Amino acid sequence: MNAPPDTAPTPKAAAPGAPAAPAARPSQSDHLQLVVVGHVDHGKSTLIGRLLFDTHSVPDGKAERIEAACKAEGMEFEYAFLLDALLEEQAQNITMDTTRVPFRTERRPFTIIDAPGHKEFLKNMITGAASADAAVLLVDAQEGLREQTRRHCFLLSLLGLRQIVVAVNKMDLVDYRPDVFDAIRTELSEFLAKLGIEPAHFIPISAKHGEGLLRGSGRMAWYRGPTLLDVLERFRANPPASGGPLRLSVQDVYRFDSRRIIAGLIESGSVSVGDAIEFVPGGKRSRVRSIETWPQSDPPRAGPVGSGSEVALTLEDELFVERGQIGAPLGDKPYEARTFTARVFWIHDTPLRSGELIPLKLGTQQAEARVLGIQRTLDAVTLESGTGTTGEVKVHEVAEIRLRVRKPIAFDVGGKVPALGRFVLMRGRRIGGGGVIDSVVDEPTATLGKGPVSRAAILGHRGCIIWMTGLSGSGKSTLAQALEQRLLTSGILSAVLDGDVLRTGLSRNLGFTPDDRSENLRRATELAIHLADAGVVVIAALISPYRLDRAMAAERAKEKGIPFAEIYINAPLAECERRDPKQLYRKARAGQILQFTGIDSPYEAPLAPDLELRTDRESVGDSIEKLTQAALSLARPQEQALDGAGADI
Ligand code: ADX
Repeated sequence: MNAPPDTAPTPKAAAPGAPAAPAARPSQSDHLQLVVVGHVDHGKSTLIGRLLFDTHSVPDGKAERIEAACKAEGMEFEYAFLLDALLEEQAQNITMDTTRVPFRTERRPFTIIDAPGHKEFLKNMITGAASADAAVLLVDAQEGLREQTRRHCFLLSLLGLRQIVVAVNKMDLVDYRPDVFDAIRTELSEFLAKLGIEPAHFIPISAKHGEGLLRGSGRMAWYRGPTLLDVLERFRANPPASGGPLRLSVQDVYRFDSRRIIAGLIESGSVSVGDAIEFVPGGKRSRVRSIETWPQSDPPRAGPVGSGSEVALTLEDELFVERGQIGAPLGDKPYEARTFTARVFWIHDTPLRSGELIPLKLGTQQAEARVLGIQRTLDAVTLESGTGTTGEVKVHEVAEIRLRVRKPIAFDVGGKVPALGRFVLMRGRRIGGGGVIDSVVDEPTATLGKGPVSRAAILGHRGCIIWMTGLSGSGKSTLAQALEQRLLTSGILSAVLDGDVLRTGLSRNLGFTPDDRSENLRRATELAIHLADAGVVVIAALISPYRLDRAMAAERAKEKGIPFAEIYINAPLAECERRDPKQLYRKARAGQILQFTGIDSPYEAPLAPDLELRTDRESVGDSIEKLTQAALSLARPQEQALDGAGADI
């Protein structure tokens, strides 16, 4: 076919109108948001172009102009060009990666959410910008399943998209053979079943010739099922959110006259005047006093205002509510927690690593997240498990991970409210990957020291951790012993946790690889926390050469509410080597000890220690004096000026 057939409907500007604003989701309840997924070359643009054309959704004269341009170039008319031309127009007023292509049939309006390019497409999918209701999965009849096809299937399952129709395209190129169609159907059904997806239908089509889209095809009389549009018209719009509990994602709070107006997006459920509402995290409660409208002359609304709408509220009480909080009904709130398991799909070239701290965004909420562990990685194409022992998730891998955010966030799990169960992880200013939260991990809080009678009251001070880091021979042990004596003399219960001692007992099975040191320090941290929680001023004297390990120790203490100070015991390597109290440097130089810190294993000096002691320049007495002040300001903050000791209370 060289041109649109004469019988084709004349294009007219019936439907498209102005493109919808990219962020706002059309609020019409029956409006279906659609994504088309599949391998790049499997005919996505042609399918979309043809759908627009056949449903008269192309503006007047556009098709003719493109046809003329094609003729002039001696090229075949391509439906894909229609889409390109429409997108080009949109691109002028839209600065986002995502574009929205509207079309409508007699039964309902549709929007196809599209993103140019493969990378953008993946990003679009995982950011949930798409938040589509349904997906068309496109497979080329000649090529069958490709890696991208499988990856996209995986994403559909990860995102919880349940309404899926498979279109086996380019049937014209395989002579409309039913066996080709059947083979693809069998293979794809099996793959999808593993992902828990059961497509609504498999439909043989030729987008180029308009077969199987709006009408059937005489050449495929063997196929008796519905056309693609039949299926799309029957899908439910916005299925999970409409009936769910209220989730109002707060975007901004404005002061207007004397009123405080809370503006947000209703991700699920609905809100009416008089509703009791709680803001999570935090738990502040009030009732909706009014729903504001623009312009102000519009009649006031009492609600309900439903999901997908932007809304502005005032409350009966003047609460301090802020961006990132979620408004919910009192009896059906989202979780408010810090630790959870999730499945992530990683798209950045730099792998996601166990232990790293990475910014997380969930709706309007933002928080730093620590990757506590990577349980299992999975190749999204083969669905085969990786070993999971590498401690990282590489580009295009999927993994089950455990995350802990620094401050509690509000979220839902298990697809209850999809928009609140999805997050992205940022790598710098780019998206590193996207994930879905699977479950909440409750962290039992230590029972030590909790209760009406406090140890601090009995002891007259509280437990804390004085973490001394530095090279072997820098003076840690000497200073630690001296500090312990000073504190005990002042009636303060204190104890030294020394690297050499730990390594003969608790960490006896560990060596000096980075992983072993990490584990050694993790044990030391947990032990220190328990002791400190029991009221002891813990003086940890550990080389702790890696910043990350020290940061994790500090963070863990903070989580448990234990004051923590990082003290850098600093003497130049040459000086430590000259002292060589245990003759270890000599042995390391002679190759008798390997991975010795400072010789063939790195020491990462603290960037911002709470206190630094230059033991090569100042006297032991001076150092101990400074150390004691720092320790006292943590242990007895009320008696000490809290200056410069870095109390982290
Ligand atoms: S850390 O790196 O895991 O923090 P830690 O402080 O527990 O080290 O133990 C260091 C002590 O182990 C040193 O004081 C030294 O006596 C001994 N040691 C033995 N081998 C090494 C090594 N390769 N590197 C550092 N210290 C070593």
